[in-house]
Formats: sequence, C-alpha cells, structure tokens
Amino acid sequence: MTASSKTSAMMRRGAEFLGTEHAILCGAMSWVSERNLVSAISNAGGFGVIACGAMTPELLDTEITATKALTDKPFGVNLITMHPMLSDLIAVCAKHQIGHVVLAGGIPPKGSVEAIKEFGGKVLVFAPTLALAKKLLRSGADALVIEGSEAGGHIGPVSTSVLAQEFLPELAADHVVFVAGGIGRGEMIASYLEMGASGVQLGTRFACATESIAHPAFKKAFFRGNARDAVASVQVDPRLPVIPVRALKNKGTEEFTAKQIEVAKRLDDGLVDMGQAQLEIEHFWAGALRRAVIDGDVETGSVMAGQSVGMVTKEEPVADIIAQLLAESEAALTKR
Ligand SMILES: Cc1cc2nc3c(=O)[nH]c(=O)nc-3n(C[C@H](O)[C@H](O)[C@H](O)COP(=O)(O)O)c2cc1C
Repeated sequence: MTASSKTSAMMRRGAEFLGTEHAILCGAMSWVSERNLVSAISNAGGFGVIACGAMTPELLDTEITATKALTDKPFGVNLITMHPMLSDLIAVCAKHQIGHVVLAGGIPPKGSVEAIKEFGGKVLVFAPTLALAKKLLRSGADALVIEGSEAGGHIGPVSTSVLAQEFLPELAADHVVFVAGGIGRGEMIASYLEMGASGVQLGTRFACATESIAHPAFKKAFFRGNARDAVASVQVDPRLPVIPVRALKNKGTEEFTAKQIEVAKRLDDGLVDMGQAQLEIEHFWAGALRRAVIDGDVETGSVMAGQSVGMVTKEEPVADIIAQLLAESEAALTKR
C-alpha cells in the first residue's frame, strides 16, 4: 500500500480523466501559470493549466510549445470565454492537440465546446448554479469545476462548502466534478473526495511555489498575508457594476473604493455619462495583476489571493506541496 493509497483510490476517476497520477489541478492563474509552474505541477503528478488570460494566439502558441519542452506529462489550457479571439485560441489548442481545455469567465459561447471536442479535447467548465451545471454537462462539457468564494481571483457569491453540498450529491455519481476554493490542506481534500468529488483544484497554495515566477515581493505578501487580508472587492454604487475579485487588501483596494465614490459623484453631477463611468471603473484594475505578479508592485497592483493564503508560509517546491497535501489527506482518511 502506498502512502496515499486511500486518497489515490478516491481520486482514481479524476486522475483517469486528467491522465495524471493525482487528481489535483493547479487552477490557471494569469501571469503565474506559465511554462515553469505548469510543467512543475504536471511533472509532480498533478495537472498544470496554462492561463491564457489576454494572450494573443501567437503568445499562447509559444507558451504551449515552451511548456511541452519542459514536460511530457498532460497539462491543460484555460481560456477566458469573452476573449475576442476565442476561436483562434481554440485553433491553437487544436494544433497542439491539447487534451483538456478549461473554459472560464462565463457561459461558453455557442460552438466553443463543440470546437474543442472536434479536435478530441476534453472540456472543463465552471458553473455558478446547479441548473446551469446540468445544462452545460448535457450540452457536451466533460467535467465541472465548482469554485467557491474563498478562492483567489474572480469569484462568485457562494462559499465552496455550500456549493459542494448543493452540487456533489446531485452530480458526482455520474459526472467528473472538481472542487476549488479555499483548499489549503489535505484534510479538506479528503472531505470533498468523501462527498464524491473526483478531485480538487488549488491556486493560492501553489502560487508561490519555488517554480513560480511570481516576483519575490508578491511571494512575500502571500507569506505575510492572513485569511482576513484576502478580501473581495466591493461594489459601491448599484449603477457601476464590479465583478468581485478576491485579493490581498492594499493601497490599490482602498483607492478602488474611493474611485467608485468619485466616479458615482461625477455621474450624479452629469459630468460623465453612464457608459464612460462604467468604463472608468472597469479600467481601474487594467494591468494590475501583471504589476503585482511580474513587477512586484504589491501596493497598487492586484495581489489576487484566496483565503487559504494564511496557510502559505514559505516557498516550497511543487512536489513537496503535493506530497504534503496527499499525506494530510491520507492521514485524515486513515483516522476515520
Ligand atoms: C493570482 C491568481 C490569478 C488567477 N487567475 C485566474 C485566471 O486567469 N483564470 C481562471 O480561471 N482562474 C484564475 N484564478 C483562480 C484559480 O484558477 C483557482 O481556481 C483558485 O485560485 C482556486 O482557489 P484557491 O485560490 O482558494 O486555491 C486565479 C487565482 C489567483 C490566486
């Protein structure tokens, strides 16, 4: 019996689906999930996912080629559904025969799921509600990621524990479902596996691994951060929509609140129209994640982090993090 045998058995369906040793995905993180981290995750038996973000098809092509040079294990590509060149990005995935494409950021536009399946790729989708999850699975999605509001990055309003209770009893028997958001230790992984999940997806726990290219200042902010520092952005005015993002609070998050108040006032005073006002809010964070991850500007940049950030205390190789998660899961399952 291997050290993680119970865990392995419970992860079997997810691992078979991904073609990996362990059903542990490292969720795509824009600017962080590039060739180095993605290949390290896959080489350690997990499933790395390239964050395409706003990349052009050419850049994605380069990144996939570079990742393939660093690993011969399976990895996936995360595409944002509202990317204006989505079909060209899918064509790049087809060219490279990418096995799994994760469609994030909204309901997949018509034809996108079909285009991925046409070249033999498996499609993973996010769904905010059970009804939508069922619809997406009926219309061809191969697996589901349910991601709760504890997660880092763009989030929905419902916690992982509640989503797990709503989705897993209904879907897990017949579908591959991965649970994401707020997972920092293996005991939590064991619990979601027991509820029927096929595997898990983590981001925050891997963002500052040794192999991550994130700036030292970004990593330091994570090591210092506690759960309560990873806050969701708040919408101040009902007319000016804000898509909630969970990130470490800093000068930028404070200024964002002030900015919304200021723009709302100018809107009241008739100095800007609604479209302009909404654009100003939308553009506030443009380039801010890159500034934090690549340039190390953790003051005004967007230091996206989930609530599990308090459990990230030092730089560790990806293989050690995965080994630790599996050992914790196994110990928990053995104790039951
Ligand atoms: C810095 C950062 C950037 C992220 N960028 C993306 C992204 O580009 N696309 C996406 O689908 N999810 C993104 N996420 C979410 C992760 O893929 C993952 O689902 C999430 O981190 C899991 O929750 P956890 O942070 O609690 O582990 C990001 C998360 C972080 C922390």
